[in-house]
Amino acid sequence: MEELKKEMLKELESVVDINSYNNFKTLYFGKKGKVSELSSKMGSMNHDEKKEYGMKLNSLRTEITDILEAKLAKINEEALNKKLESEKIDITLPSTKVNVGGANILEKLIEDVEELYLSMGYDVVEGPEVEKDLYNFELLNLPKGHPARDAQDTFYTEGDTLLLRSQTSPVQIRTMLANKEKTPIRIICPGKTYRRDDDDATHSHQFTQIEGLLVDKDISLADLKGAFDVLAKRLFGENRETRFRPSFYPFTEPSVELDISCFNCEGKGCSLCKGTGWITVGGAGIVNHNVLDNCGYDSTKWTGFAFGFGAERLAMLKYGITDIRTFYTNDLRIKENFDRKEA
Ligand code: DAH
Repeated sequence: MEELKKEMLKELESVVDINSYNNFKTLYFGKKGKVSELSSKMGSMNHDEKKEYGMKLNSLRTEITDILEAKLAKINEEALNKKLESEKIDITLPSTKVNVGGANILEKLIEDVEELYLSMGYDVVEGPEVEKDLYNFELLNLPKGHPARDAQDTFYTEGDTLLLRSQTSPVQIRTMLANKEKTPIRIICPGKTYRRDDDDATHSHQFTQIEGLLVDKDISLADLKGAFDVLAKRLFGENRETRFRPSFYPFTEPSVELDISCFNCEGKGCSLCKGTGWITVGGAGIVNHNVLDNCGYDSTKWTGFAFGFGAERLAMLKYGITDIRTFYTNDLRIKENFDRKEA
């Protein structure tokens, strides 16, 4: 046993890595290893001899195992350190560029407009894109066969009763009908609209409108002017002036076109405003009494104004976009271009 101990202590010196560790373990502690060999000797011993021999052998085993395990811990630690060393990350290496998406410029503009009107106590509401002819036209004072329907030819989904809305104005009807208590209303409604137009630089069969409706007592064109003025200034700068131009819409009386002074030439006249100094951005008017009555708002008591903007038109003017189709192509380069202008 003493000899074996000496031998093991000497051999332990050469345990320096996981291979020599394993070899050592099999050589001495394996099933047929040298330590097991010694313990098999006990078979021929008497009780007292066995006891003494067994104790010695155990203490030898513990002594060697302790040293061996300490070696293993060291081997493992060294291996780990080596690995960490070789896996060092070079933080000075340039990273791979990740392209990130972002809000569509049209969405941004709509959010801007929403924020402005929300701050003045308006609610933002939504309506369905598949709409009843009744709401899109009839209750808006556009009965079947009305010539003003021609300009808003759209897609019908079921006979002549269901259509893709050609304007967001039906949301006016929906809002007034839904308000059973007939209390004052202040809403804007941005949303998709559809028309049977051939797509080109300024037309799209699907586009976006921002509708507005205010119903209350004693509302006049002056109130509409105020509501329009803040928008013009917010989107196109504090120096913008606004003007009304007489127009016609079946759902308003009187009706007006909404013009802003040209931000490109400050009203002097340029190619953008076609020399007039003014740019038209939407339509509006005082809600026609028929429309109020159609929706259960007694027109002898209630008055209101309504307006409608083309969202793409506002964005095209604001960001100098010349083709409406730009909004619907997901070209990130174009998005980045818009973002720069926004900054
Ligand atoms: N709905 C109209 C259109 O699509 C725009 C419009 C004009 C909306 C006057 C209004 C309004 O609410 O009062 O051409």
